[in-house]
Amino acid sequence: MLDIYVNIKSLMGVRKTPVKFLKGAELDTIEAIDDAYLIVEDGIIKDYGKMAGFANIYGERCGANTAVHDLSGRFVFPAFVDSHTHIVYPGSREQEYEDKIRGLSYAEIAKRGGGILNTAAKMHLTDEDTLFDMSMQHLQQCIDGGTAAIEIKSGYGLSTEDELKMLRVIRRMKECSPVTIKANFLAAHAFPTPYRDDHDGYVRLIIDEMLPIVAGEGLADFIDVFCDEGFFTVSQTARILEAGIKHGLKPKIHANELGLTGGVQVGVEYGALSVDHLEHVGDAECECLKSSKTIATALPGASFFLGMPYTPLRQMIDSGLAVALASDCNPGSSPSASMKFVLSLASINMRLTPVEALNAATVNAAAAMDLAGTYGHISPGLKANFIITRPMPSFSYFSYSYTENLIEQVVINR
Ligand code: NIG
Ligand code: FE
Repeated sequence: MLDIYVNIKSLMGVRKTPVKFLKGAELDTIEAIDDAYLIVEDGIIKDYGKMAGFANIYGERCGANTAVHDLSGRFVFPAFVDSHTHIVYPGSREQEYEDKIRGLSYAEIAKRGGGILNTAAKMHLTDEDTLFDMSMQHLQQCIDGGTAAIEIKSGYGLSTEDELKMLRVIRRMKECSPVTIKANFLAAHAFPTPYRDDHDGYVRLIIDEMLPIVAGEGLADFIDVFCDEGFFTVSQTARILEAGIKHGLKPKIHANELGLTGGVQVGVEYGALSVDHLEHVGDAECECLKSSKTIATALPGASFFLGMPYTPLRQMIDSGLAVALASDCNPGSSPSASMKFVLSLASINMRLTPVEALNAATVNAAAAMDLAGTYGHISPGLKANFIITRPMPSFSYFSYSYTENLIEQVVINR
């Protein structure tokens, strides 16, 4: 099957050879071909170029098994990679949203047994099939928003039985969804009520009981810890990451959302693919990241929704770092699957240019979920995963017009 896309206003993100990630000033560069064509054969990018050269090469090839798509006025760019989500969850938490409006903080809500524990209680009462159906609906929202590869965390189970339930649901999603999914084992998301006064006991449960089963059944690609004030300490994080690595899982952690807690340093020390959140980072964190391959991932949807400070991505890029953007889609701190909105937030609140934001949400996000070089590019030989916009005046219009639905079609070939 040959798909020929013609008259593309601008084909963005083309690269003859994909890069692993972009850092510092590289983030503001993108190769684009105006008035372009794109050829996709059996779901693989074959060729692209200027319309001026199209007739000579492909003019005769419009026979059977060929679909020609006229994309006049439209932009084409790589589909989003959402490298940090919690989309396997039952129910919703709009009561806490009201509590926040009335003045309670995220930490105060968590202390009252709300927050993560609230969703964990619902998780316990939800059977696997129902959870699967709900989660597939969340995933569909991500796909409709232009996401072609996604990381999904456990972490609302907080018991062996319920963490496994979540991970088995993610495995089913991997099997039947059109997008690439990576599973992240996040039992260390919060301390469940039975271990409220025995934090080390819960860490032992994760390491000694949960991890061997998770790894034995091949249920996870990554290991995560919420390393932060009031949650898991640096030394607990280190123990869990070390155990995860021994079981073949790659670290990818929550760090520095609530304070300067040493989360970045412990993540880098254990070779984390990414350290995520980073609302609180200083020079020491930036220096530590600079000498590593760890991708610094910001989640501006959580800053927006919780009214927290935004990650200082502008300064982090200016100091030469490789940064990514993700949705953090979850019922408590970021109930939105829209990567388009993430781009807008990054530009409006963190002063990323639209091109920097796109690269952070595609090329670098792929690196943050161990897909470096395979997603986030329009390159010959790669699977065709891209977004076709509605007609727009410029690329910047996409995130500028921040509530307009500008995605006309998402082409996904896993
Ligand atoms: O990434 N910060 C920790 N975990 C999630 C929130 C989960 C929740 O509130 O349900 C996050 O924001
Ligand atoms: Fe998160």
